[in-house]
Amino acid sequence: MLSQTFTQYQQRVDSQLAHFIDAQTVTDSQLKAAMKHGALGGGKRIRPFLVYAIGEMLNVPAKNLDTCAAAIECIHAYSLIHDDLPAMDNDALRRGRPTVHIAFDEATAILAGDALQALAFDILSETIDGLTATQNLAMVKALAKASGYSGMCGGQAMDLNATNTQVDLPTLTQLHKLKTGALIRCAIELPMIAANVSLVEQALLLQFADAIGLAFQVQDDVIDIISSTEELGKPQGSDSESNKSTYPKLLGLAGAQATAKSLIQDALSALTKLPYNSQLISEFARFIIERRV
Ligand code: IPE
Ligand code: IPE
Ligand code: MG
Ligand code: MG
Ligand code: MG
Repeated sequence: MLSQTFTQYQQRVDSQLAHFIDAQTVTDSQLKAAMKHGALGGGKRIRPFLVYAIGEMLNVPAKNLDTCAAAIECIHAYSLIHDDLPAMDNDALRRGRPTVHIAFDEATAILAGDALQALAFDILSETIDGLTATQNLAMVKALAKASGYSGMCGGQAMDLNATNTQVDLPTLTQLHKLKTGALIRCAIELPMIAANVSLVEQALLLQFADAIGLAFQVQDDVIDIISSTEELGKPQGSDSESNKSTYPKLLGLAGAQATAKSLIQDALSALTKLPYNSQLISEFARFIIERRV
């Protein structure tokens, strides 16, 4: 069930993304090509998947979530383009292809990231039939918070500070929650806003979100060690090469894997307390720690 629905939602968001990028007036065709290189053609689309799948669980029609799914993937694509830059992780391979600064140049990669970030908010602020302006605005705010200083960018800054040095587990946990967890949490918050769920359900959904968000980055650290460059489509061993602070570095590979597993158990136990059919979402949670890509 998971792989079929995954493919279906991947295709849905890809056509949305292509549509929104193509709808931009051409100013510089190289910039547009770089945006497409970074946003389309590869990638798991797990954040859009979560938007749609949580929406499906909460009975929100997929058509009301198309802009959310495309917007969050634009932020993610921008974060990867900048993450790969020489000033950050200095990686030359992403999704089995040259990173944007290699395929184009550094200045174009910076601008492609900037433009995708702006496009995310352009898309998300479109009016959606079936949603109120208040809900729409709450979505814009949630994505802004998850992307900026209190979210992904803040986490990326902590990541850079934690490079070539040893940090303790609480610091590393906070770093992972921000750089990766915040956007994943947002992928669950957006359909929650559309569904107007109760406070009790909100708390449980956010417990689930926080647990899978952290587990996702712990597993990202794990696969940097256990998967090959061919499987990953990004350079295997990049973290140790750059002397990054990671869960395996701090806890050992088995310790990191045990942590990820226990986070997924926490996530699944939050799900069982919700009055919805959570089969698809449970399968997805298990996929997070089984994946090698
Ligand atoms: C990689 O994210 C970077 C992290 C935040 C861990 P993904 O594993 O979702 O990357 P793609 O989109 O599938 O390439
Ligand atoms: C990325 O973390 C987090 C982002 C906000 C992009 P990583 O640096 O571990 O991601 P990969 O391994 O390069 O995909
Ligand atoms: Mg990084
Ligand atoms: Mg990186
Ligand atoms: Mg990584």
